[in-house]
Amino acid sequence: MTATLKDEAGSRHGSHSIQVRPLSAAVGAEIAGVNLARINDAQFAAIENAWTNHSALLFRGQQLDHDALLSFSRRFGELDPPPVNENGKKFVDGYPDIYVVSNIIGADGTPIGSLGAGEAVWHTDMSYLSEPPDASLLYAVEIPPSGGDTWLCGMIAACKSLPAALRDAVKDRSIKHDGTYNSGGYLRAGLTASDDPVNSVGTPHPIICVHPPSGKPTLYLGRRRNAYVVGLPRDESEALLDELWAHASRPEHSFAHRWRIGDVLMWDNRTTLHRRDPFDASARRLMYRTQIKGKAKPRRAF
Ligand code: SIN
Repeated sequence: MTATLKDEAGSRHGSHSIQVRPLSAAVGAEIAGVNLARINDAQFAAIENAWTNHSALLFRGQQLDHDALLSFSRRFGELDPPPVNENGKKFVDGYPDIYVVSNIIGADGTPIGSLGAGEAVWHTDMSYLSEPPDASLLYAVEIPPSGGDTWLCGMIAACKSLPAALRDAVKDRSIKHDGTYNSGGYLRAGLTASDDPVNSVGTPHPIICVHPPSGKPTLYLGRRRNAYVVGLPRDESEALLDELWAHASRPEHSFAHRWRIGDVLMWDNRTTLHRRDPFDASARRLMYRTQIKGKAKPRRAF
């Protein structure tokens, strides 16, 4: 089903026609008919409306230099600096807000970016901060011939379909979100390795939060590794987290995105999880990512 800008925004802004096509039942929409390097306010209003409704947006066939990527990203708010990661180079020279996700090895023998070629497990970005980023945008510059798909999982849908007993068990609780490792399993630079979820570095957030733009309740899970349900004995915390993750990551809540060069995929960190398939380490993959600063701490829904 494709909706026009008129359908989504409630009014037709000028003569522009932006099409909005849902990518799955639970999360995501593709936006067609827009050049992100040259959008006007009316087009942005329609994009923002789709953003509130779908939690993840895909734009195909874009050609963005660093300034254009930054300027489109900044329409959503102030930017957050990239996360602290393993030892790969963190950001593009001269552009400290553009994080490099890549397995490519530079002329000096070190990786030009983060996350290598392995699997990146389900997570939401930088949830170990007290004010995590609202959103992330990923722009595909080089992609491998196969593998490296990015999966998205819709947490508003996962929250809605929670079995009553599980909802009751988590609705007043918080998870401590670990900051020790990134989603590729790498230890963040400067931190001490730890598999103790109670004492490792991290921040607690409510499990069921409100998504401010839509007012809908959403699950906020972060990463599974080193997560801890605050106040529970460790074994009970592990059992509850296993049940919660098994429910949230059910196939009907998610879809896989197969990349093409020029794709921009953006996701709402408050309402989605994402993960990445591994790919052949001898192939090249280069993505540029920006992060939209959180406008508030995650807030309990009930
Ligand atoms: C990320 O987790 O931000 C990167 C995902 C990807 O490389 O597809």
